[in-house]
Amino acid sequence: MLARGGPGARRTDFGDTASMRTPDFLQLHHEDAAAVRAELAAGLLATPARVAPKFLYDALGSRLFDAITELPEYYPTRTERGIFEAYRAEIAGFLGTGRTLVDLGAGSCEKAAGWLAALQPARYVAVDISVVYLRHALECLQRAHPALPILGLGLDFAAGLALPEAVGPEPRLMFYPGSSIGNFTPDEALAFLRSVQRESHGGGLLIGVDFVKDKATLDLAYDDPLGVTAAFNRNLLRRLNLLLGCEARVEDFDHVAFYDTARQRIEMHLQARRALTLAWPGGERRLAAGERIHTENSYKYTEAGFAALLREAGFRDVRCFSDPQRWFGVFAAR
Ligand SMILES: C[S@@+](CC[C@H](N)C(=O)[O-])C[C@H]1O[C@@H](n2cnc3c(N)ncnc32)[C@H](O)[C@@H]1O
Repeated sequence: MLARGGPGARRTDFGDTASMRTPDFLQLHHEDAAAVRAELAAGLLATPARVAPKFLYDALGSRLFDAITELPEYYPTRTERGIFEAYRAEIAGFLGTGRTLVDLGAGSCEKAAGWLAALQPARYVAVDISVVYLRHALECLQRAHPALPILGLGLDFAAGLALPEAVGPEPRLMFYPGSSIGNFTPDEALAFLRSVQRESHGGGLLIGVDFVKDKATLDLAYDDPLGVTAAFNRNLLRRLNLLLGCEARVEDFDHVAFYDTARQRIEMHLQARRALTLAWPGGERRLAAGERIHTENSYKYTEAGFAALLREAGFRDVRCFSDPQRWFGVFAAR
């Protein structure tokens, strides 16, 4: 299944158009349709009903997420970018150059692209469940960096990270930006970070984490007036129809998102506008008017809390870089 790089491909420097490669790609996440249906049905039949956030990302979901990052209300992306720009050389000096750069949940690969010059990775490995979108992103990245060895991995890491041998034995710099770690509960995050530490082969971690802040700012970031986040959430109904064989109507559900101050997390839900039944081959779930399907959590951390989590996961040397408002943290860990 490994698609090889182009003939005569060789590493020179990243701007060398004479040695154009094609990205290698390994599709390790073979969607077992029956297992996916069983997972979705179990979630819908639970109380409260739920669907895992990984199902938000198909080709359209990935595009809608990219649109969210452009919104003025969605501060995490631009704040993280500002921290990267302010501390790039310092962070690269701390983490070291020449590693294999492993991008977890790579999406458009844009953030990693911004690090190539500073980190000079020997190889770029992009991991994502949204494979159609990832393949396209990697083709664009390869055009911009013709000599960079690239490996794409179609992989679901929700239950822990296990990278294939094809990634190679060298130390890996694990890159997990965008505060995606917040989609795990704190206990799951610890288990995931342990698997990331193990998979790094001593190479280190660069991770973006959203911090606890005032509720109004957080609520607006996940419920923008233009309705882009609502479209991202409601796209899940189309996924349910496709993967489970439901006939859910997008117009029957509202997007609901709010910060739960006690739990320090954003919750995202799809709320039924009227009493309705979601039916699929072999099952159904009745929803009362106002009843919700829980689709995502995004946990927020304090700087001290997340640094402690990293140490507990096995990273000994941890540094945090932040913005003047201390809204977001970029942690470099070895
Ligand atoms: C919030 S987006 C972040 C994208 C990009 N890294 C950024 O920071 O802008 C999360 C990314 O992780 C991917 N993803 C979500 N769940 C995943 C899973 N269980 N396994 C692999 N990738 C996953 C999504 O497809 C999406 O590209």
